[in-house]
Amino acid sequence: MWQSFTGGASYGLVLPSPSVDTAPASFLAGQVHPDFQRRGIGRALMTWEIDRALEDRKGRPGTAEVTAPEGSAAHRLACNLGLQEKRRWRQLHRTVPQNSLQVLMPHRVRVARGDEVDHDPLREHRNRCFHHGPYLDASAWAEFTRGSDLRWDLSRVAYEESGELVGAIYVRVAPGHDAYIDSLVVSPEWRRRGVATALLRSTLGALQDQGIPGVALDVNTSNTSGAASLYEREGFRQTGALVTLALTW
Ligand SMILES: CC(C)(COP(=O)(O)OP(=O)(O)OC[C@H]1O[C@@H](n2cnc3c(N)ncnc32)[C@H](O)[C@@H]1OP(=O)(O)O)[C@@H](O)C(=O)NCCC(=O)NCCS
Repeated sequence: MWQSFTGGASYGLVLPSPSVDTAPASFLAGQVHPDFQRRGIGRALMTWEIDRALEDRKGRPGTAEVTAPEGSAAHRLACNLGLQEKRRWRQLHRTVPQNSLQVLMPHRVRVARGDEVDHDPLREHRNRCFHHGPYLDASAWAEFTRGSDLRWDLSRVAYEESGELVGAIYVRVAPGHDAYIDSLVVSPEWRRRGVATALLRSTLGALQDQGIPGVALDVNTSNTSGAASLYEREGFRQTGALVTLALTW
């Protein structure tokens, strides 16, 4: 169950999520107004969130996870409360190019707009591409797609001539923000043929058409599928680093 706390100067959120890991994870999020920082509110908030996550699991195994900028107060706080580093992320960004990009379509592959295709096969495809998780069951997929910031018109799906789904890029845009690439996935048997590059460039073209000035994404530093080098080759540059810390019980 989702739980939240709001005070005049702070808020905390506990978001439980299914996973293919050994146990479900609860994602913790929160913020303290700058005028009220360094008074112990953040520590109280994170402690409250961890207690709620523990309560939610009713004694069964689980994890509580926090993702924070490397070296930030939230990172230090999570360490002080005993959370262990689980993974690191590179935050990448690029300005949307103003000139049109060449989209070289791999042989027998076409790219379609996300708002013009059948969404039913996408969940299974995404889970197969991210076989190390996080696994999206039907309700997590509903959350993933229903969020108002997921933009199907900017997202793209790649198909082989026969109709086989081979790749997809999912794009979010929060009001007043740059676009955010939530994920870019290509079926294992279709990799290293330029499918991801075609999907990414097609989305960059759509962002340009919509006048969206920039695009960001986070890439796991232990991603071994070559995603980071692909993004760098396509003009993305590192702007920061994030750390995910977890308490496991
Ligand atoms: C990361 C991922 C999306 C890349 O997909 P892809 O379709 O293989 O990507 P591309 O083919 O466009 O580019 C990958 C590499 O293949 C090379 N390549 C492209 N066409 C090629 C071809 N015809 N022959 C040989 N190599 C080729 C590219 O130059 C690139 O090389 P580089 O890694 O040295 O830059 C894919 O591996 C994947 O789905 N991984 C799991 C999910 C994931 O981690 N996603 C990213 C985080 S959201």
